[in-house]
Amino acid sequence: MSTPLVVTKRMTEYPSDSHTIARYEATGGYEQAKRALGMTRDELVGEVKTSELLGRGGAAFPAGVKWGFLAPERPAYLVVNADESEPGTFKDRQLLERDPHQMIEGMIITAIANEAHLAFIYIRGEYPKPARRTQRAIEEAYQNGYLGRGIFGSDYDLDIVVHLGAGAYICGEETALINSLEGERGEPRLKPPYFPAAKGLYMKPTIVNNVETMSNIPHILEMGGEAYRDLVIALDTGTYMISLSGHVKRPGNYELPHTLSWRELIYDIGGGIRDDKELKAWIPGGASAPWFVPDEHLDLIVAKEACALAGSMLGSGAVVVMDEDTCMVRAAERIVRFFSHESCGQCTPCREGTTWMEMILRRIDEGAGRPVDLDLLIDVSDGISVGLQWPPKMTTICPLGPSAVSPIIALRDYFRDEVQRHVDLGGCPFELKSGETRARAPSSLAGAGPEVRGGSTGSIPSDRESAGEGSS
Ligand SMILES: Cc1cc2nc3c(=O)[nH]c(=O)nc-3n(C[C@H](O)[C@H](O)[C@H](O)COP(=O)(O)O)c2cc1C
Ligand code: SF4
Repeated sequence: MSTPLVVTKRMTEYPSDSHTIARYEATGGYEQAKRALGMTRDELVGEVKTSELLGRGGAAFPAGVKWGFLAPERPAYLVVNADESEPGTFKDRQLLERDPHQMIEGMIITAIANEAHLAFIYIRGEYPKPARRTQRAIEEAYQNGYLGRGIFGSDYDLDIVVHLGAGAYICGEETALINSLEGERGEPRLKPPYFPAAKGLYMKPTIVNNVETMSNIPHILEMGGEAYRDLVIALDTGTYMISLSGHVKRPGNYELPHTLSWRELIYDIGGGIRDDKELKAWIPGGASAPWFVPDEHLDLIVAKEACALAGSMLGSGAVVVMDEDTCMVRAAERIVRFFSHESCGQCTPCREGTTWMEMILRRIDEGAGRPVDLDLLIDVSDGISVGLQWPPKMTTICPLGPSAVSPIIALRDYFRDEVQRHVDLGGCPFELKSGETRARAPSSLAGAGPEVRGGSTGSIPSDRESAGEGSS
């Protein structure tokens, strides 16, 4: 079965210059932005609603519905979320590096639809190359008259500003991002009342959308909302980008239809497990998502609804695969440590709870675990997210705290025996078996893990500052 590539088509067909404005225009680029200038807000929002495009930043909220919620007060702003710090997620990076004009055209259309004249792209600070490519693309668009005063010869003004974060995961949460853009600490705001569509940037109506969401917009206009919706094959719409990582033979970004099963994704697309080992578990949607295991989930469909029914989520499309040699205690500790480090500290259950969970997991991992420790972990997790269920119950301002309990749900439901063996043996059974190296969790679980917290730098590093960033 095949599906037409949408957002990765150009970069797949023209890998050497898909990021340039020349290639973008030679492949139909900016035609839809010109068209959008002749359309009304209702028509544009209507197309996107019809398309049923779901936001790609994690929450999968319908983009057209969000646009429809925009409060009437003006000015309104557009903010594109390119923070991409969920461990295992690396799709936005590719879209920014390889096809920045596609996102910029999506932004122009979105700005017109939502009557915004100023837009921001908030890019994570550890992405110097994507940031430079994006900045260069914006300059090209200004030079061609597609941004600035009177875009495309019309009377519509639009400016886009690139802003770099400073490496705080929490700044990916839309209200923390807005705080950070305003120069405040990157701390989430309470919803309600601070829904961005009503009280967003500078307390004005603001649309926040993800890079991949934006990159789909020109295609929706080009093919029409209905035709885009016809890309629906199973339960969701369009095609998602999946970042596949961990212990598979062929990790990478893949744009997929939703009719795939997890078995097909991991074994056909991903090439199966490294060294032909057994699959033990996988995370279906970024470190925040509850884990899946082969016995229960391998033949489920890779789709939003199917994931939700099975108690997890497709989230940011980050699939992290773990083989039979993975120590689940260590994998859980790695993820919980990440959330503990990234907690902004506003809510006591998140700030204290994640720290306790990290300490208990480390104790078990290092061989000093006690028989009560798994129950203690569950108890502490219950204090953060009552009932340890999915979607999580909230005791906190934002979902970061409840996300940290996902690995504990996996230990409770599938790997209780493995935790017990750690306690009984006084150490990691994998390490004791191999006698030398400690069993490793996939490196993609580490996140980028920067040591800098909060705030933003606002400036794009030069080539020299970001030397060694990798090739395109
Ligand atoms: C802790 C946390 C981190 C998040 N990080 C990101 C991120 O890095 N990128 C992103 O697009 N959305 C992220 N989100 C989701 C955003 O809050 C928001 O839902 C999204 O940017 C909206 O865009 P969309 O509707 O196009 O998905 C995060 C949410 C939470 C709770
Ligand atoms: S849940 Fe954690 S990260 Fe979110 S606002 Fe509360 S303390 Fe901050």
